[in-house]
Amino acid sequence: MIASENRGNWGSRLGFILAAAGSAVGLGNIWGFPMQVGKGGGAIFVLLYLVCVFVICFPIMIAELALGRSSGKSPIEAFAVTKPRSGWWLVGTMGVLAGVGILSFYAVIAGWTLAYVWFTATGAVVGTSAEIGAFFGAFVADGNKNVVLSLAVLVITAAILLGGVQKGIERAAKFMMPALFGLLILLGLRALTLPGASEGLAYYLKPDWNEISNPQVINAALGQAFFSLSLGMGAMITYGSYLSKQTNAVTSAVWVASLDTAVALLAGFIIFPAGFSIMGFDPSTSGPGLIFAVLPQLFATLPGGQLFGTFFFVLLALAALTSTISLLEVPTSALVDRGWPRKKAVLVLTASITALAIPSVLSQGAVASLSSLPGLGMDFLTLMATVWNNWALPIGGFLISIFVGWVWGADKAVAELTTEGAHFPFAKGWVFLIKYVCPLAILFIIIMTARGFFAG
Ligand code: PFF
Repeated sequence: MIASENRGNWGSRLGFILAAAGSAVGLGNIWGFPMQVGKGGGAIFVLLYLVCVFVICFPIMIAELALGRSSGKSPIEAFAVTKPRSGWWLVGTMGVLAGVGILSFYAVIAGWTLAYVWFTATGAVVGTSAEIGAFFGAFVADGNKNVVLSLAVLVITAAILLGGVQKGIERAAKFMMPALFGLLILLGLRALTLPGASEGLAYYLKPDWNEISNPQVINAALGQAFFSLSLGMGAMITYGSYLSKQTNAVTSAVWVASLDTAVALLAGFIIFPAGFSIMGFDPSTSGPGLIFAVLPQLFATLPGGQLFGTFFFVLLALAALTSTISLLEVPTSALVDRGWPRKKAVLVLTASITALAIPSVLSQGAVASLSSLPGLGMDFLTLMATVWNNWALPIGGFLISIFVGWVWGADKAVAELTTEGAHFPFAKGWVFLIKYVCPLAILFIIIMTARGFFAG
């Protein structure tokens, strides 16, 4: 049922959960999470990540959904109508910018997954570890090919968005999520039965407690949690604004956060056992090529591996698309709420984001100065991911928790979340988390990281 013809609405509670989970589950879970675990020293990162998800991010997800549903607006307007004549709309604006910034590098990696559908289907990625790694390196360094691939991702995303909320987003998510889940479980079972798997499991599950106070690792875990759950930039405010009053936002959030976390954890159960069963594997230096190097070797151990592999990359590309959809939906809805026709908004944004994606595309070997930024020791794509994920999203989350907890008022949010008699079992605990724990914890992590950063 379309409640407001212009803005659109979710078809059902399940449709909403699938779409929000579709936004959350994406490259962040399957490509990003194992890579961050590798960089962050294994199990200790997993532990810090889980704490961030449940203690800091989950309450913020509820806050974003409440604010979106109560205002019925996209991020900028949601702040503006909730607290008129104040500067809070700037938080929404920052979220819109984050959506644009994240999509500009996300589309590049989503483009890689599209290419790997083709490579796997045609049997192009075979050989030794070294050969498979070299294949990835040569492929990502091909600037022309990757510009076309990123453009393809953005055009497909735009086309789905023009189909509107219900038809486009819900339909894609309804098929993809269960299929992805099933395939991940299958791959996990295979990976766990490979020789050497136990070493990978130990790496993934046995924490090295020395790293627990490393601010860089804590900051990366927090950024990854925000990124993975699509929080801190108003994506869940936007999705919440399409939510009907009959839908219980809290239980929906439980579903979304659990599904997202389950998929990320599953990805780790695949990559580390499989990776450690490969000779000479070092998760700490694998970087963005991690899954593209490990998975083809896992598929090779399966009967019908080529078919499995192809299907896997199709699902990964779809998971990426349901996330790019929500990334583009944030700035689009902001422009639509300012009176732009949807079509014009989508077209102008797609063109701008394509232009912004080009330096990220060229930073993987095509252009030397972008591939290793002078003075920073990282490539442009990694810089974008660090700035937006590790800094912009947590800062956005900090401001959202202050806004919902103190400015709009946690009691008003609770009233919104319990309209129509909806059940909100731990409302008191949530109020405590959103008012005190979330802002203080984020602030603490940001200050610690900044101190470490400036101390060199
Ligand atoms: N959550 C997505 C992922 O894990 O791949 C990425 C993302 C989508 C981040 C939407 C932020 C967002 F608003």
